[in-house]
Amino acid sequence: MKVLITFFSQSGNTEKIAKAIWEEASLAHEADCKKLEDITPGDVALYDVIFIGSPLHSGSLTTPVKECLSVLQASSGQKMAGFITHFAPAYPEQDMDGFAEPIKAACKEKGIEYVGCFDCQGALAESMHEPVQKKLNLSDKAWAGMVKQMTGHPNEEDVANAKACAKAVLA
Ligand SMILES: Cc1cc2nc3c(=O)[nH]c(=O)nc-3n(C[C@H](O)[C@H](O)[C@H](O)COP(=O)(O)O)c2cc1C
Repeated sequence: MKVLITFFSQSGNTEKIAKAIWEEASLAHEADCKKLEDITPGDVALYDVIFIGSPLHSGSLTTPVKECLSVLQASSGQKMAGFITHFAPAYPEQDMDGFAEPIKAACKEKGIEYVGCFDCQGALAESMHEPVQKKLNLSDKAWAGMVKQMTGHPNEEDVANAKACAKAVLA
């Protein structure tokens, strides 16, 4: 199978997961890993399976990813999976499902089979700590706890989970 892993990433977390998925996919398939800005809408039609990745920004997939989903060209028999990184420790199942909604909607519209969405924590870039702490109105102590919790993610376990998820999609 031809597999495309494409992603948007500002500080490298989503890119790390993209590379893990690419490593897994490359074991048994012809796989390409490309930044979103390096693909054209038509490129997507050339692949059997597409993994599309985004960080969460303000509780939503990033604009470049949503734009790509609206213009991508599909071909018959394709499958698509999402992968998302976020600084929050965990979201309830139904929220995660909600975040993947633009991927599901694009699949439905273009006749692509939606096969799920992987997510894991990704540490917030240092430059964003102050504004986010303020926005969430957290005390220094509460924020320090949150920073401790997110530091190091995506970690080895996250990478292993992403690979397992990709393996299941490609089975
Ligand atoms: C502008 C901005 C908004 C963000 N909004 C959220 C959010 O609403 N929820 C969340 O859990 N993480 C949020 N984050 C954290 C990122 O989703 C997280 O750190 C992600 O792993 C970054 O991925 P990247 O390194 O691939 O850019 C936000 C980060 C930025 C820069």
